[in-house]
Amino acid sequence: MNGKVAVITGAAAGLGLASARRFLEEGASVVITDVSEEALGRAIARLDAGPALTSVIAGASDPDDVNRVVSTALTRYGRLDVWVNNAGITRDATMRKMLIEDFDAVIDVHVRGTWLGMRAAADVMRDSGGGSIINMSSISGKVGNAGQTNYSAAKAAIVGMTKAAAKEVGFAGVRVNAIQPGVINTAMIDAMPDAVKQERLRDIPLGRFGEPEEVADVVLFLASDLSRYLTGTVIEVSGGRGI
Ligand SMILES: NC(=O)c1ccc[n+]([C@@H]2O[C@H](COP(=O)([O-])OP(=O)(O)OC[C@H]3O[C@@H](n4cnc5c(N)ncnc54)[C@H](O)[C@@H]3O)[C@@H](O)[C@H]2O)c1
Repeated sequence: MNGKVAVITGAAAGLGLASARRFLEEGASVVITDVSEEALGRAIARLDAGPALTSVIAGASDPDDVNRVVSTALTRYGRLDVWVNNAGITRDATMRKMLIEDFDAVIDVHVRGTWLGMRAAADVMRDSGGGSIINMSSISGKVGNAGQTNYSAAKAAIVGMTKAAAKEVGFAGVRVNAIQPGVINTAMIDAMPDAVKQERLRDIPLGRFGEPEEVADVVLFLASDLSRYLTGTVIEVSGGRGI
């Protein structure tokens, strides 16, 4: 990753933060974004990476914010090689109880946010000779989770747009791939009731939840030239859940 420049959205915590750390260890310059200024401040302190790291307070589904992130990466580091659409939220409830606002909020961050990020990154990369875009889907988008009709829909949509975009921009050397994590130990999972956690555990052949670093290693693989002949793929990082 030496000399490469990467943007990771929603990277103040969890999988995005772990991916940022991995990229920095491998020599990349990294721009992390998040809606939480406080969490971004904590992330910068924890990563302690000096000039190789820049943060931008930005909402993933706001087009002006997305453009600001692109211009920050280009102004600060002069290029853009990797873009990870990682920002995400959950608003779980059964269909009977789910508010329309909760449906819309989840679709907005994941579907509109990923599309805006992907579009902005591809615009730069297709003119500069290529790049790698990585979209964070979820096993929930493959198998469907009760209580997540909004989130499962959003994560399945990300798979569709990953494949469509891969077909549009492959000619220019821009690769677009998705990752479907299973249950990974982050704040998002801390919010899950214990009974649901036990139920999930029974479905995982490897018998445990994953760690953020185990997803970050796959993000790194897709970002690097090790995956240079992969595009439009969906990699499940789930300990076997949902196979
Ligand atoms: N943890 C899991 O088990 C799991 C499983 C499958 C998929 N995922 C996906 O991985 C991604 C990261 O999840 P995580 O577990 O690290 O979650 P997390 O809650 O720890 O981190 C997500 C980050 O995104 C930020 N964010 C939320 N809305 C945003 C927006 N509109 N714009 C920019 N930033 C925003 C949050 O402030 C937070 O810092 C998400 O897309 C999530 O859906 C997670």
